[in-house]
Formats: sequence, C-alpha cells, structure tokens
Amino acid sequence: MLAVIGGTGLTQLSNLEVLRRQVVRTPYGEPSGAITFGRIGPVDVLFLARHGYGHTIPPHMVNYRANIWALREMGGTSVVSVATVGGIRAGLGPGTLVVPHQIIDYTWGRRATFHESTDRPVVHIDFTEPYDLDTRRRLLDAGLLADVDLVDGAVYAATQGPRLETAAEINRLERDGADIVGMTGMPEAALARELGLPYAALAVVSNYAAGRGDSLHHIEFSALEAVSHDAMGKVKKIIEQVCMGCESRA
Ligand code: HPA
Repeated sequence: MLAVIGGTGLTQLSNLEVLRRQVVRTPYGEPSGAITFGRIGPVDVLFLARHGYGHTIPPHMVNYRANIWALREMGGTSVVSVATVGGIRAGLGPGTLVVPHQIIDYTWGRRATFHESTDRPVVHIDFTEPYDLDTRRRLLDAGLLADVDLVDGAVYAATQGPRLETAAEINRLERDGADIVGMTGMPEAALARELGLPYAALAVVSNYAAGRGDSLHHIEFSALEAVSHDAMGKVKKIIEQVCMGCESRA
C-alpha cells in the first residue's frame, strides 16, 4: 500500500476518501499524528502529516523514526514524501515540482537510525542511490500521464533548520552540488531504506533559496507556508495518478 507523507501545505489530501484514523504507538515514540487510512479511487492509501495535523512540529523535532516505523507497521509498502524546498539552481523557481535523485545531509543531532543496539552486529545500509528508482519512475510517469511538468533529478540539501539559511550557506550548498534545499529529507529517506521501504520524494519549490531570485535580501516566511494552491493541486494530481498506476500494477 502506498504511504504518503505530507509536508508544509499538505496536511491533508483532498482527493482522499478518509476511512479511519489510527493512533499508532511505536518502540520509537509517537508519530507526528494518527495515520489516516483512506482511498483514492479504488486504491488504499496511508497518509501522515509530517508536521502534525495542526502544523506544529518543526523539522528538527519531527519523530522521523516513529513516522516511518508506523507507516510500515500499518501496511505501507512504499513511501512518497512530499516536501517544500527552496530553489538554488537557476530555473528552479517557486511552483516548480522536482523529483530529486540525490541527497546531501547537513542535519545534526537527529535520531537518524534504527540500529542503535550494541549487542547486535553493526549494520551499514547501502545509500548510494538514496531514492528508490522504481518509486521515482512511478512519480515521473505519473507526471507525464497527468500532464504535470516535473523536473527529473536534483540534489537535495537537507539542512537542520528551523531557521532558513544565510546567502553564504546557500552559496556553499551550491558549490557542494546542491540544487534544492529543505529541512525534512533526512533522516527520513535513510530510515525508510533501513526498513527496506522504497521511498522517493516529490519536492515543491516554495521560494528561491536565500540570496537567489526574489530572496536576494530576505525570504518572506509566509512564502514557505503559502505554497501555491496551484502547485499543491498538481501534487494531488500526481498522487492520484500514482494510485491509478498502483491499480494497474496490482
Ligand atoms: N530552505 C530550507 N528549507 C526550505 C526552504 C528554504 O529556503 N524553503 C522551504 N523549505
């Protein structure tokens, strides 16, 4: 079953027929909220709002382990993560939808692994390709079928937040090869890999990153929250199309 993690601007999926909500307890504590069991067309879907349903949990305080664990526990077999980002690379302006292919992790102090026990052999997951290729392909195909433009490939820089970056930090991220910047992509992607859950991201550019475009001197905080209605409408179309693809795969 497809699991969708919604970020800023996506605390619910309007095309989701809600069947029930379930509070899930995990060995890692409480997820961001109850897991929503729903249906898009004839297809069962799980949904979780990453920042809580009232959008109160900041990126560095999200219990990523509990979220990923709960989604798998409730029957999730692949995860599409929706997240807003700042655009660094020219051409990635507000409203652009991106399916990233690589990650650079600048976060710190987050509970970033399920493997913390010292009485079991050490585990090192392969993370060469951090996003699942098949799940990325499903998103890109859905974009084609739904007639929604998606940028195929970008390097996602995961920063700690909750503050935004300085212009110099964005310059450094760009020199490192980053195209987009967000605060929630890690450790979420790595945790999904640890549990063997195929995971891909659909990033919605909500603003130019600091020092770029109309964010040359200042980023309007409201720009982050007010991800355009239009862009979120496109996200919903893509998810709907991915679900239709799930049906033909079943
Ligand atoms: N930086 C980091 N995270 C973000 C941004 C940004 O500019 N926009 C949306 N999430």
